[in-house]
Amino acid sequence: MKTVKGFCILFVLQLCLLDSGRTGKVLVWPADFSHWINLQVILEELHHRGHEITVLIPSPSLLIDHTKVPYNVEILQLSVTKETSMEELSTILYEASFDMSKFSWWEMQIKLANIGRKFLLTTKRVCDSAVTNKELLSRLQAAKFDVCIADPLRFCGELVAELLNIPFIYTFRFFSGNVIERLCAGLPMPSSYVPGITSRLTDNMTFIQRLENWLLYTVNDIIYSYYVFPEWDEYYSKVLGKPTTLCEIMGKADMWLFRSYWDFEFPQPYLPNTEFVGGLHCKPAKPLPKEFEEFVQSSGRDGVMVFTLGSMIKNLSEEKSNMIASALAQIPQKVLWRYTGKKPKTLGANTRLYKWIPQNDLLGHPKTRAFITHCGTNGIYEAIYHGVPMVGIPVFGDQHDNLVRMKAKGAAVEVDLQRMTSEDLLNALKAVINNPFYKQNAMKLSRIHHDQPVKPLNRAVFWVEFVMRHKGAKHLRPAFHDLTWFQHHSLDVIGFLLACVAAVAFLVTKCCLFCCWKFGKTTKKKKRE
Ligand SMILES: *[C@@H]1O[C@H](CO)[C@@H](O)[C@H](O)[C@H]1NC(C)=O
Ligand SMILES: *[C@@H]1O[C@H](CO)[C@@H](O)[C@H](O)[C@H]1NC(C)=O
Repeated sequence: MKTVKGFCILFVLQLCLLDSGRTGKVLVWPADFSHWINLQVILEELHHRGHEITVLIPSPSLLIDHTKVPYNVEILQLSVTKETSMEELSTILYEASFDMSKFSWWEMQIKLANIGRKFLLTTKRVCDSAVTNKELLSRLQAAKFDVCIADPLRFCGELVAELLNIPFIYTFRFFSGNVIERLCAGLPMPSSYVPGITSRLTDNMTFIQRLENWLLYTVNDIIYSYYVFPEWDEYYSKVLGKPTTLCEIMGKADMWLFRSYWDFEFPQPYLPNTEFVGGLHCKPAKPLPKEFEEFVQSSGRDGVMVFTLGSMIKNLSEEKSNMIASALAQIPQKVLWRYTGKKPKTLGANTRLYKWIPQNDLLGHPKTRAFITHCGTNGIYEAIYHGVPMVGIPVFGDQHDNLVRMKAKGAAVEVDLQRMTSEDLLNALKAVINNPFYKQNAMKLSRIHHDQPVKPLNRAVFWVEFVMRHKGAKHLRPAFHDLTWFQHHSLDVIGFLLACVAAVAFLVTKCCLFCCWKFGKTTKKKKRE
């Protein structure tokens, strides 16, 4: 027993010593909003382990407040103001969310690609301010970073890493039509059973749905390859002074950390340099602030509902908010609604509006019965973590697809924000509260989420440190990146085989014809004789 104890102490000491000897420098190229919230969790842990962190923050950032970031900060000065930038983003978001329902499938693909292109162009300014600033680049070069952590929602992290000649790691959830995942990371995503993001399909597809999913991938590949990426290819070639493409540079990533896992995502193939770390930001609930706790306790045996449409939707139309409030007023539960718009006239006595709620702590509260959500990845993961069933009201981006996953796993009910009536919402709320099916499935997902050999955050940090220790992870990189698209799909091999078959068929028919002709000639000769 004693030796075991002694051994343990030695082992822990060893770990501490090793750790202290291996701290390094991390450069961060973040994206805004929920992406930043997620990235921050990884950075906190890296900071805790003694690594030195430097974050490149554009001057007009919306959620990232550079005065509050507790790491080294390099501000990228841009000529646009925060207000202009917010306005631009609001327009793009508005187009992405409210305008979609009236379009046909084809129009929607083109529209989405256009929105993607517009959004990416706003990130080009940020890129410009980094790569044209020689002084900044030489300062970063001199700092000798070990690794760069980038979010591919905002291009250019890979370009900065390439200029500084350091390994880099991506962390993200998805790219429109999964174009980056498939074309640049080489992630195998067979369209027959891996539904693309924005398809709103599950992994159990009918023939028509598989056709639709195939078209989604193919149409997006064509649009992005020939319409969106070329200007970036040109830009990257110019900056690096050699002909290259965006995808080629992105494909150099040493590790891809995806913010999902099999409690949430449908099972799909993955590569040695991809890790699925969904839910890394989840933590146990803390006690609620006093005013929240009192309100929650006042609900008695009925419990409470937690309602938020996320940080991007500031207000709803008056009609919508009245309609929602009147549905909420009809349930016996108390409701905590995170809402910053005008107070709806129909607000019931059981509903309270808050500018901010401690979402994770509320979801982990034993009195919480359900979560009414816009289906952002972070919120869904908190609900999975605490085993809370959901009523989903998706608005844009991957939110519809997130809800499709939760519905397929039996942990959520859907309500359509555009078309819903007060009664639809009420029925959905009643279903999730009164039917134990949803709670049971949510609890099942929760148990699956918690039953992992290594926690997602620890896995994410492990891979960052792994890449730092080994100066990259090229040994995990599949040879996919060295092939052209037709070699990758073995089109050259198939073409060769088809040519062989054609040649043989040609020879056989020729031979037959020759024989027939010969045979015909001899019989004619015989007949004449
Ligand atoms: C797939 O969907 C079909 C029809 O919607 C259903 O009959 C079938 O049971 C589903 N398969 C699985 C494995 O869930
Ligand atoms: C709230 O919504 C209304 C109509 O949808 C819009 O006209 C108004 O500008 C919005 N206000 C804010 C602060 O976003």
